[in-house]
Amino acid sequence: MRKKIKSIPVVLVVIMLAFILGACNSNSDSDVSGNSEGAANDEESAGNETTSESGLSVGIVLPTKDEPRWVQDEERFKEALSDSDYTTEILFSQGSSAKEKENVETLISKGIEVLIIAPHDGPAAGVSVEAAKAEGITVIAYDRLITETDAVDYYVTFDSLAVGAAQGQYLVDNAGEGTNVPLYLYAGASSDNNAFLFFEGAWSVLQPKIADGTFVIANSSEAEALQDKAELTRDEMGKILGQVTTNWDPNEAKNKAQTHLTAVGPEMKGDIAVLAPNDGTARSIADVFSTDPEVSSYIITGQDAEKASIQYVIDGKQSMTVFKDVRTLVTDAMGMAVDVLDGNTPETTGNYDNGSIDVKAKQTDVIVVDEANVQSELIDSGYYEASEFTGL
Ligand code: GAL
Repeated sequence: MRKKIKSIPVVLVVIMLAFILGACNSNSDSDVSGNSEGAANDEESAGNETTSESGLSVGIVLPTKDEPRWVQDEERFKEALSDSDYTTEILFSQGSSAKEKENVETLISKGIEVLIIAPHDGPAAGVSVEAAKAEGITVIAYDRLITETDAVDYYVTFDSLAVGAAQGQYLVDNAGEGTNVPLYLYAGASSDNNAFLFFEGAWSVLQPKIADGTFVIANSSEAEALQDKAELTRDEMGKILGQVTTNWDPNEAKNKAQTHLTAVGPEMKGDIAVLAPNDGTARSIADVFSTDPEVSSYIITGQDAEKASIQYVIDGKQSMTVFKDVRTLVTDAMGMAVDVLDGNTPETTGNYDNGSIDVKAKQTDVIVVDEANVQSELIDSGYYEASEFTGL
């Protein structure tokens, strides 16, 4: 699923934030005041004046509450929607396509006109959005693309290829001189289209450095077999992901890292480089590598600027993260929803081929953060408070 997109300056998006979101309101698995009491509560906390005649205007479905990344999105949605007219509800799928389908059916029964959904599993989400589409509901894919269905109207996302390329470049720039630097590859879940874009972006930067001997692959025979190939097919990437996927699960990442370090000899230790796909998995992999006495130093990547990983970056336990300003994604998604509710056509800047149709899309740039710019990118920008960290 390739991209054809130009991006909008973040500053412009932020200005739009105040403007657009004067028109929404929220309910979620946790109500506006943040109490976590499960979906059942929504009834009570719903209902402001401007709702669709039978209830809710906008339904929002996020993959899981078990990952800090998606709790960030919930918080940013609630922040953005706190004083608005349209009613919204946020539900979590807890890593299950069946729960996701149930969530979408619940929201359909509450009369939503717009569905904003980050799928747990890209292809499997098709059945849920087709049910919404059949009711005339506008479907906006959020962060992750829903694939192999024509029941998706819009897609808001970050530049996922650039995320991977930034991770690869950071390893190239910081792997130091010398050759045969052991490179450990890890990836996201194959059910997530983003995982392929992240890996494709990283491979585009790392492959030439593997081919010229700067790096030597330490933990994937499939990647080794393809190391002289600059552009991989989806199937070839699928084979590599099959070996090094973390399924976005920190525990699976930890187990894989332990297995890999046990399987290799001292030539694959010393000063090493690790491609970790996101912050949740990066921390657990870093914890494993930092306790191996034969590993003298490691460079490790991440993504999402989760608070715990920013502390790891400050403490020198994680090298970098790719900051994706979720405030912008929320603005774009809610902006589109309000346009639809107001009978206008949302602005888009390109499209994504999801294997069935070209989905009209809006994409946001990403920012590399390491210890040198935590202050400027995350504190000065108001994303986090300095008081949330030690050692800044
Ligand atoms: C991806 C998302 C990342 C990461 C991951 C794990 O689709 O773009 O930000 O958090 O899912 O949930």
